[in-house]
Amino acid sequence: MFTFAKVYLHGFSYFALTMCGIVGYLGGQQAYPILIKGLHRLEYRGYDSAGVSVINAQGQLNVYKSPGKVSVLEEKCSSQDISGTIGIAHTRWATHGEPNTVNAHPHLSESGDISLVHNGIIENYKTLRSELERRGMHFCGDTDTEVLVQLIENVKQKYDVPLADAVRMALNYVVGAYAIAVIEKSNPRSMVCARKGSPLVIGVGQQTGEFYVGSDATPIIEYTNRVVYLEDEEVAEMDADGSLRITSLKNVEKTPEMTTLEMSLDELEKGGYPHFMLKEIWEQPNALSVCMKGRVHSGLKDVFLSGVIDHRERFINARRIIICACGTSWHSALLGKYFMEEAVQIPVEVEYASEFRYRNPVIFPDDIVIAVSQSGETADTLAAIELAKEHGAFVYGICNVIGSSIARATNSGTYLHVGPEIGVASTKAFTGQVLTLCMLGLAIAKEKKSLSKEMYEMLVDEIQCIPEKMRWTLEHNKDIEQIARTFTYARNFIFLGRGYNYPVALEGALKLKEISYIHAEGYPAAEMKHGPIALVDEEMPVVFIATKRGNYEKIVSNIQEIKSRKGRIMSVVTEGDVTVRELSDYCFVIPDTRDCFVPMLAIIPLQLFSYYVAVAKGRNVDQPRNLAKSVTVE
Ligand code: F6R
Repeated sequence: MFTFAKVYLHGFSYFALTMCGIVGYLGGQQAYPILIKGLHRLEYRGYDSAGVSVINAQGQLNVYKSPGKVSVLEEKCSSQDISGTIGIAHTRWATHGEPNTVNAHPHLSESGDISLVHNGIIENYKTLRSELERRGMHFCGDTDTEVLVQLIENVKQKYDVPLADAVRMALNYVVGAYAIAVIEKSNPRSMVCARKGSPLVIGVGQQTGEFYVGSDATPIIEYTNRVVYLEDEEVAEMDADGSLRITSLKNVEKTPEMTTLEMSLDELEKGGYPHFMLKEIWEQPNALSVCMKGRVHSGLKDVFLSGVIDHRERFINARRIIICACGTSWHSALLGKYFMEEAVQIPVEVEYASEFRYRNPVIFPDDIVIAVSQSGETADTLAAIELAKEHGAFVYGICNVIGSSIARATNSGTYLHVGPEIGVASTKAFTGQVLTLCMLGLAIAKEKKSLSKEMYEMLVDEIQCIPEKMRWTLEHNKDIEQIARTFTYARNFIFLGRGYNYPVALEGALKLKEISYIHAEGYPAAEMKHGPIALVDEEMPVVFIATKRGNYEKIVSNIQEIKSRKGRIMSVVTEGDVTVRELSDYCFVIPDTRDCFVPMLAIIPLQLFSYYVAVAKGRNVDQPRNLAKSVTVE
């Protein structure tokens, strides 16, 4: 039907998605309040423009868009007709094209009959656009999404087919990734959605003919817990008469698979805290208890991970483990390496997923590749998984978001179960990942019999004490807020640790950087002498993670080296410590535990410190500039 050649996906560009958010509603209620509330719930993902389309009772399709926050859009809509019981809305995080009104979604087709929101990237949009222009269509912006809505309209007009058919036909010509929701002025009783490579969830409401759409479940959970997760290359047609039809792009009918959401609304609210980040820091003791539930058995002194038990032979015979992750998840991966090499006695490599995927790494079929990701949507980590699978490796996922792309792409895995993490800076997901990697190390060690019974049982006993020790840590560091205020002047920070505390230093530095915008470096403490110590003077705050076990004497020497150069010293110490306390200007205290479990406690004062510095500097803690919660672009 089209003259240009169909291009097939290759490599991993398939995963080059955007971090945008989609909300849709069709039913008996006014759509606008539901759409706006949904956009607010999606704000955590990061965005720089927003928009909404609603069809009113007179059959007019009204579209309102603006750069900036959802509140700016609301202001714009306050004097407009926003009535109607069907609508779609979007938050856009700009990748191509600046975040202005024209580029914001929803986009309109040339006739003004069809409106569409889109997450993802249409890679062949230039080719499609040239062909559509050749056919006489006009474009107002430069986005790939506008091309998609025009393509759907062109197909619809040319073949005189219903909207769903036009969507299916058009998507057969699209190369790239998409989650879309489409409405049509001339048929305000139905909505069409589709996905490939970018998640989309459909909520089935309490009333017949009521449907909710979300790029994740957060805009939906308030109204229904009955959802259908669309699979790649599926198209959903929802009708106000209550029908939900799901087909492939080739129009082969599929049975919708209904899932019950376990998330609760409370988990998405701030619950009296000024920021999600602070709430999530304080949630850690409970979150980690839930993470261990049914997995760490106190009576039997044992760890059960079904993801390992079901694939026992793969784990016993693994030649090597490679852990792929990005950002904070990479820091937990490094801690996973330290623990697993000790407990399991096989080599463990840790890779930045973005490097791994592009550098022809050696991967053996008897390797186990572990992907660690809070969101389960990080583009580079997804691509690393595909690469590992191509080489025949067994891929294990450690994710927080249920039903996420990484959870679906892996052979087996473990969910964190720490609840939704809304603050952009990861806190409870980090400690949940460290805990899960420790449980995984113990579960593999059990299968391989690489730990003595006494050591295994002692570690199982101690890991169960971590939530209580986290609670103690939160209760005993009340002066952090005041200490943080004295450091708002600082332009640089150094974080130092050794052994298990080195990844804590990296994570402490990242937390400070991302939410306060103060430059910070994490370093192995002994490496200071090899260069960075030149940075130290009386202006330079240096944070030591100097807990009692593991290299304590060595780190005391490192502190002395900084002290003699007049650096300002802050230390995380074990309860009862005297030596480091005397050398430090300020101390944060944690209870004693095995050094492999120290990171889950030592990071807590550093999370709080970053939080209070950022608050004192007036930063947008939950949505720091330039950052998005799920990094779905490579
Ligand atoms: C930092 C942070 C990021 C993420 C990284 C990977 O606080 O949250 O560094 O850790 O973008 O994201 P996930 O874990 O979702 O793959």
